[in-house]
Amino acid sequence: MPSKDEPLLGHHAMLSSDGRAKTSPPTNRWLVFAVQFLCMTVGLWNVSGIASRIWAAPIVRVSRTTMCPQQNEIYPRSNLSVKLNDLYNSHGFRVRAVQWLSGAIKVPTESYDEMGPVGVDPRWGVFGELHEYLAVAFPKTHSTLRLTKVNTYALAYHWEGSDGSLKPILLAGHQDVVPVDPDTISAWPYPPYSGYYDGTFIWGRGSADDKSGLIGIFSAIETLIESGFTPRRSVVIASGIDEESAGYRGAGELAIYLEKTYGKDAFAMLVDEGGAITELGGLQVAKPDVAEKGYLDVKIQIATPGGHSTNPHEAHLKRTSPLYSTLLCAAEHAPDMDGHLKQELYKSVKSDRALKQVESIVFNSPDIGDIARALSTTTQAVDFIQGGIKVNALPELATAVVNHRIAIDSSVSELTTRLTQLLEPLAAKHRLDFVSFGRNVSVLPSQNARAFLSGALEPAPISPTDSAAYKLLSGTILATYKESFAGRAPNDRKMIVGPGLAGGNTDTQFYWNLTRNIFRYNHLSEDSFQAIHTVGEAIRATAFVDGIRFFSLLIMNADEAEEL
Ligand SMILES: *[C@@H]1O[C@H](CO)[C@@H](O)[C@H](O)[C@H]1NC(C)=O
Ligand SMILES: *[C@@H]1O[C@H](CO)[C@@H](O)[C@H](O)[C@H]1NC(C)=O
Repeated sequence: MPSKDEPLLGHHAMLSSDGRAKTSPPTNRWLVFAVQFLCMTVGLWNVSGIASRIWAAPIVRVSRTTMCPQQNEIYPRSNLSVKLNDLYNSHGFRVRAVQWLSGAIKVPTESYDEMGPVGVDPRWGVFGELHEYLAVAFPKTHSTLRLTKVNTYALAYHWEGSDGSLKPILLAGHQDVVPVDPDTISAWPYPPYSGYYDGTFIWGRGSADDKSGLIGIFSAIETLIESGFTPRRSVVIASGIDEESAGYRGAGELAIYLEKTYGKDAFAMLVDEGGAITELGGLQVAKPDVAEKGYLDVKIQIATPGGHSTNPHEAHLKRTSPLYSTLLCAAEHAPDMDGHLKQELYKSVKSDRALKQVESIVFNSPDIGDIARALSTTTQAVDFIQGGIKVNALPELATAVVNHRIAIDSSVSELTTRLTQLLEPLAAKHRLDFVSFGRNVSVLPSQNARAFLSGALEPAPISPTDSAAYKLLSGTILATYKESFAGRAPNDRKMIVGPGLAGGNTDTQFYWNLTRNIFRYNHLSEDSFQAIHTVGEAIRATAFVDGIRFFSLLIMNADEAEEL
């Protein structure tokens, strides 16, 4: 991409895609990530509070086949799980878990958009402090598992199972956190890197995103080892260092290392951060994300006064979309969904006309319409506009960067083709030379434009939901939910598991080659954490313990599973 210093080669308009971290100023990035995380964590269901209105009409009973199949809870056969469940319900264990997480929060592993390479930029050094902490806090894990450091600070732990013929499972959690704006520190109830425990919540940046995930994995493994568990099936932990910025220095390097070490499609399943548990009309919905939208920043540069406009992408509800699965689950399991919508949903399994009806009802809903449309199409947002250098001179060069989240059934090339078609007539009208992604008639060195395409990300392949891995995950989530209430107040809120769609990208964007069964999931209910990426991030201690319980059950269930 030509920088502002380069000479202008006549009037031209230029369309190119940029590397992600390079263009957006930090303030925009924060906003983007806040929105991204909103979609990622809660997707459609986040609106449960408000969405209850859409589900509030009388129930219509319709006979139907199962549209949202549910698993039974899966408990390990091993007696160890009974012992562990008692342990996790004990006060002593909660105190220990709080200490584990709190200690990790105290190490401020911030990652920034503009960071030099590891070994050059001194700010990476703090990750070494986190490693020292991990080694001290989880001694059995470190004496039992084999640790490989990749690109100095990314971590791969290998817990070798006794049966080499079983595919290992891969558990991921990132070490980095989004930076705390120094101007906001006084607004935190407790300092952001205190890890303070107030008896209910553990406070601090990363308490939920994603140190609860990473430390949850370590806590589960440490406890399993202490209890005498030895795996049959290998377990691998992958922990990146820059998920909150670009991801390629951590997960990107780990992906190459893991593929080289284990091979393509070598893992039975991968669980990383992602969708959470939300409440919908009295129903608990656990939502592992099985898909992830693509990504492309497009820089539109015009070197003469002119204008541009783009039309929004059209949204359609498709049967292949996890959003549609989510709606079917609601139709089948939410007791108070709007009767008309429910009926149309039943019919829509076969009828295209009913599907259109459903689309219209959902997309036009004042409560969830916006987010449902956004999840169903490629979205675009102009995140960066620049032009002019002096108040009394017209700008000679105007630049806009349009951030795109690519629909799961679309592609980078479909998007670039569309943009080219939209802008070509405009460029012709204003008699501009037009360089589009380095491919069209060019007055600029085309490799410049092409070099930036590395920032493009195709939508993730959709993880199958009829697989043994998805069933194992579902059954484990349901078992975790049941067990977590055994030691507490009785709970009669039913839980279902339904596939979700992530609006943003996690470290899993680098792991597609390792397994088809990629699930983005945190065993966290909406009311158990707060303020991710902003002031006052915190997590309930009981929720963190449930996260540990989830990883323990997952490891034990995967270990016993014959077919995975
Ligand atoms: C589990 O516990 C039960 C009852 O305490 C016992 O009968 C059984 O043998 C145990 N199973 C294993 C695999 O240890
Ligand atoms: C995945 O495999 C393809 C084909 O071998 C390869 O080109 C690509 O670089 C791999 N992706 C990653 C992220 O390693």
